[in-house]
Amino acid sequence: MTKLAIIYYSSTGHGTTMAQELASAGEAAGAEVRVRHIAETRDPETFADNPAWSANYEATKDLPAATGDDIVWADGVIFGSPTRFGSTASPFQTFLDSLGGLWAQGKLADKAYAAFTSSQTAHGGQETTLTGLYTSLMHFGGVLVPPGYTDGLKFADGNPYGVSHVTGPENQNELDDATKAALGHMAQRVVRIAGLLAA
Ligand SMILES: Cc1cc2nc3c(=O)[nH]c(=O)nc-3n(C[C@H](O)[C@H](O)[C@H](O)COP(=O)(O)O)c2cc1C
Repeated sequence: MTKLAIIYYSSTGHGTTMAQELASAGEAAGAEVRVRHIAETRDPETFADNPAWSANYEATKDLPAATGDDIVWADGVIFGSPTRFGSTASPFQTFLDSLGGLWAQGKLADKAYAAFTSSQTAHGGQETTLTGLYTSLMHFGGVLVPPGYTDGLKFADGNPYGVSHVTGPENQNELDDATKAALGHMAQRVVRIAGLLAA
């Protein structure tokens, strides 16, 4: 069975929703799936006035948090981070920074990688977040598997770099059909290419 790890950071829950959608699609594609959140680095008291952040924290804090071994285990990895100032969030970056030892041993290489993000606005930096993240994956020696426009449905969500959700000013958590379809397509594609690499 192809092994797919979905490793993400989420503060207010959009990334959690996207990770769950990817996990369902990965399992439907025949993969063994591990979903791992990157643990919150902030004191919960500092976001106690943000109900969505507190709810996501409570819902995920007792689940197993991501470690480098989850990447070593996997044939394919899909990373996720919110867009913050046009880049990945600092807890996500801290997780990447913890991987130096595995990188030095070559244990992050030769796997299939892709990524997802969300942001409040359509042109608020989703593409820079994803392409910036892919720069680090090149340092891993990862095999990038961006969705491109490899299926007609990509012309609906319109992001060839990965999959992205726009929350809008209302902080909409529900994913639209185009985003759901794009997440399903990306999961299937990573599982397929990861299976070929692992064979
Ligand atoms: C510090 C900070 C910086 C942000 N920067 C951006 C940004 O550059 N562009 C944007 O459109 N949204 C930005 N946002 C909004 C988040 O990207 C958005 O709420 C995202 O969906 C959060 O994902 P999550 O619910 O998985 O944490 C920012 C939010 C925070 C807290």
